[in-house]
Amino acid sequence: MSDAPKTLWVLHGPNLDRLGRREPEVYGRQTLADIDAACAGLARALGFAHESRQSAHEGALIEWLHEAADTGAAGVVINPAGYTHTSVALRDAIAAIDVPVVEVHLSNVHAREAFRHVSLTAAACAGTIAGLGAEGYLAALRYLAARAS
Ligand code: DQA
Repeated sequence: MSDAPKTLWVLHGPNLDRLGRREPEVYGRQTLADIDAACAGLARALGFAHESRQSAHEGALIEWLHEAADTGAAGVVINPAGYTHTSVALRDAIAAIDVPVVEVHLSNVHAREAFRHVSLTAAACAGTIAGLGAEGYLAALRYLAARAS
C-alpha cells in the first residue's frame, strides 16, 4: 500500500472565479485564490494533499467528481453555486460516488431569495454549510479529514 497522503478536493462552480469583485456585500472581499490558499494550507496541516478546481461548466464539475472518486479522494468539498438550485445531473454525480461530499455556500442561502432555499444537491451530500463565508470550506475540510482518519 502507498503511504502517499490521500487528497481532499475542493470544487467551485460558476461565477466563483469572480469572488472579491462579485457582489462583495454578499460574498465578501476574499478572492478564490485566497480561499484556495487557505484550503491548501489546512489540508496540508491535517496531513492530506489538496486539489482545487473551478468551472462554470456543469459537465466539468461532474467529471471532476468522478475523477475524485476514481483516484481515491478522501473527500470533496463542493460549492455548486447556481447549479445547487438547478442541477439534477450534479446531484446524481454526487450520489454516484462513494466519496463523502460536503456542500458549502459562502452566503446564507436560506436568508436570501426563495429560489436559493432549494438545493437539489444537498440530499446527496454528507452535510451542508451555508453562511459562514470562507470558514465554511475550512470546517468542511476538517470534517472530511476527521472522517477519513
Ligand atoms: C452560493 C449561493 C448560490 O445561491 C449562488 O448562486 C452562488 C454562490 C454561495 O456560495 O453563497 O453562486 O453558492
